[in-house]
Amino acid sequence: MSVKERKEAAPPAPAVPAREAARPEVTRRQFLRSGMYGTIGLFAAQALVGAGVMLWPAKVSGFGGRVLVPKKLSELSPDDPPLKVREGKFYLSRLPEGVIALYWKCPHLGCTVPWNESENLFHCPCHGSIYEKTGQNVGGPAPRPMDIMAIEIDGDNIWVDTGKITQRPRHLPEHVTKV
Ligand code: FES
Repeated sequence: MSVKERKEAAPPAPAVPAREAARPEVTRRQFLRSGMYGTIGLFAAQALVGAGVMLWPAKVSGFGGRVLVPKKLSELSPDDPPLKVREGKFYLSRLPEGVIALYWKCPHLGCTVPWNESENLFHCPCHGSIYEKTGQNVGGPAPRPMDIMAIEIDGDNIWVDTGKITQRPRHLPEHVTKV
């Protein structure tokens, strides 16, 4: 069989669909560029998620979130001094009618107010503001009582929402959570 005859006898090449024939071929450069952009995008997404996790305020526990008071309600007596809860930056005062959570930041200029055992009062060391166990200001330059935080009683547990701080011009009975 001559070369010419062999060529004529060979089966015809399979037909390429018109759409496939029109599709441009992806070059090696285009492929590498896509890969590079994909990798950069992935790193950027990871960085954004990481930053979001770090910057998102803690809402579950600690200051800014709900804090469980370390003592049970049944363990507290109206004769006790206010319970200092460092995690939430507040004092829990047990009063005869209920409980009140007082933000420990002095409403005058922001110092942390300690409880003075011998005076049976809160006494700010910075400029001498004095507060009762209810947080009512009774002396010094403070313009208002200590701020309060929202309380939720769940059986014998006391939860304080340190993200809900309320200023008040004076202490009122309704600021106390009755128990
Ligand atoms: S900061 Fe407390 S009295 Fe000034």
